[in-house]
Amino acid sequence: MTANIIDGKKIAADIRENIRLQVNERIKRGKRVPGLAVILIGNNPASQVYVKHKRAACEQAGVYSVSYDLPRETTQHELLTIIDELNNNTQIDGILVQLPLPDHIDSQLVIEHIQPNKDVDGFHPENIGKLALRIPAMRPCTPYGVMHLLDSIGETYKGRHAVIVGASNIVGRPMMLELILAGATVTLCHRFTADTAAFVQQADIVIAAAGKPGLVKGEWIKEGATVIDVGINRLETGKLTGDIEFTKASERAKWITPVPGGVGPMTVAMLLQNTLNACNKHPF
Ligand code: GUN
Repeated sequence: MTANIIDGKKIAADIRENIRLQVNERIKRGKRVPGLAVILIGNNPASQVYVKHKRAACEQAGVYSVSYDLPRETTQHELLTIIDELNNNTQIDGILVQLPLPDHIDSQLVIEHIQPNKDVDGFHPENIGKLALRIPAMRPCTPYGVMHLLDSIGETYKGRHAVIVGASNIVGRPMMLELILAGATVTLCHRFTADTAAFVQQADIVIAAAGKPGLVKGEWIKEGATVIDVGINRLETGKLTGDIEFTKASERAKWITPVPGGVGPMTVAMLLQNTLNACNKHPF
């Protein structure tokens, strides 16, 4: 079997185009455009690339974006003050603080300082808690994007076994909550799992989100499985690669996402979707 490619780039472009049309509709009805504040601290090269994509996507979709490019030395107090201002700014629907933050800043404190209804990353405990309680509000962008990819290939979830590799707050844990909500049976593997291969071998849906190139071996994949690679790792050669051995996995999977061009563009599209959703909650 040679797997079908799930074209995240195309699916994300369609979502962004749909958002652009909805923003135009808002303008026609005399409403304001959605606003997103994107805060980057320091000069982590990967974060700079991600933030550039997020800002460009805003511009293309007609979403108003405010950029904060702050030096690494920015204090926690300065950052919290900016977030206070943005929480109170009625032009701003979403606040995104790119992670990771420098060590002298407490990321969890910063996340909890963002008003939950402006937390377009979906990382605030209120939003994660609501997802756990089956009342999703603002949904974490990457898992939300993965659900769109799975929906796009007609995934039905119920009676299916999904195995996630990687238990991060940003992807693995909320991914588990999304999949349970959709009706899948979920196994979450992490660094203390004794035999990850044995779980992946049983999976109808494999989701790799550990940030380790080639961690998931192609031969682990069950014939006909759906394989989603959330990993974006830059090799010394400069090439981007995922967490899954793509070529070997493609010989066994029915569906597979490429890296780049799979999950990455979906994260950006869902960020815009969350911003538009937040904006639509207001009467103005
Ligand atoms: N760092 C890696 N992924 C993300 C993300 O989705 N949002 C934010 N804010 N930071 C990240």
